[in-house]
Amino acid sequence: MTLDVVPVDLGARSYEVRIGPGLIDSAGAQLLPFLRRRKVAVVTDSSVAPLHLERLLASFAAKGIEATALALPAGEATKGWPEFARATEWLLEQKIERRDIVVAFGGGVIGDLAGFAAAVLRRGVRFVQIPTTLLSQVDSSVGGKTGINTAQGKNLVGAFHQPTLVLADIDVLETLPARDFLAGYGEVVKYGLLGDAAFFDWLEVNAPNMAQDRSLRQYAVRRSVEMKAGIVSRDETEEGERALLNLGHTFCHALEKATGYSERLLHGEGVAIGCTLAFELSQRLGLCSQEAPSRVRAHLRAMGTKVDLKDIPGDLPDAQTLLALMGQDKKVVDGQLRFILARGIGDAFVASDVPGDAVKTLLSEALVARS
Ligand code: GLY
Repeated sequence: MTLDVVPVDLGARSYEVRIGPGLIDSAGAQLLPFLRRRKVAVVTDSSVAPLHLERLLASFAAKGIEATALALPAGEATKGWPEFARATEWLLEQKIERRDIVVAFGGGVIGDLAGFAAAVLRRGVRFVQIPTTLLSQVDSSVGGKTGINTAQGKNLVGAFHQPTLVLADIDVLETLPARDFLAGYGEVVKYGLLGDAAFFDWLEVNAPNMAQDRSLRQYAVRRSVEMKAGIVSRDETEEGERALLNLGHTFCHALEKATGYSERLLHGEGVAIGCTLAFELSQRLGLCSQEAPSRVRAHLRAMGTKVDLKDIPGDLPDAQTLLALMGQDKKVVDGQLRFILARGIGDAFVASDVPGDAVKTLLSEALVARS
């Protein structure tokens, strides 16, 4: 299999996303041209380290690159001030200097935290993303959003800090638990839904075999990254088009808050449910045909991921409370809720004038369907 290279065009801060098999084993060779001295610091987590860290360190050693590693606890709770402080101070103890490179080796939590540490360390050092989950390969490792969560909410402290290189090793996805793979799929299908109907057609046919077939997996990751790279190149700091990447996310963030960011609902599962709700809302507002939400729902069901509110175990608050949780979303502009709606599959747009009543009715009915 060949390597796919997707450029993210951002002038002097442009970089490549390299997608293919065996990239962990060749990471030393891939990074070498970017190093000003043969030294890197790796931030990873306690799930990834036992599975893959030895191979990564061996690939650095093979090129004479001195590498030290810090494994933080796995899980979303790590993405806060205490572990951020620990990682940043550890990087200073490792004597990482302005010209050195920090390697973020893990899923979205590690990429966001290590990227933010790199953004502020000595007022900014370079970092390389080696994402190990489907979700981080297709979304969080690309585009330079870094940060941590605080008591006030998710991702409220952070920085735009673009990586120097992204290595998406599609073999590593074979060790992902099935649920995590499917959750990541929520972000893959999002790209078809927001801007590429032909990709959604392709996913309907091929995605059910993606977990087993690495060439299908590689194509799905590549196409997702191409779409994200294009959007980020045109709108790095989310003044406009980049907001489309939040399709399904307003619903998702409210549901994540309502379920306490717990195992009851993984982020990508919330995105999948949020996409279904966004298409349902679009249809109710007369923006798209009934066929669109039906296709979205049927495809997500065929994949075996969560599709509706009834797929979330345990109690959920009422529609009014969920609506209020949406209002706390950080993407509120001047008190107006912004939703990403769609005129059809592959044709999403930002809507800032969505009637709250329509959202509340949709949620009420979805909650009734649970009982
Ligand atoms: N995950 C959304 C973005 O990168 O803009």
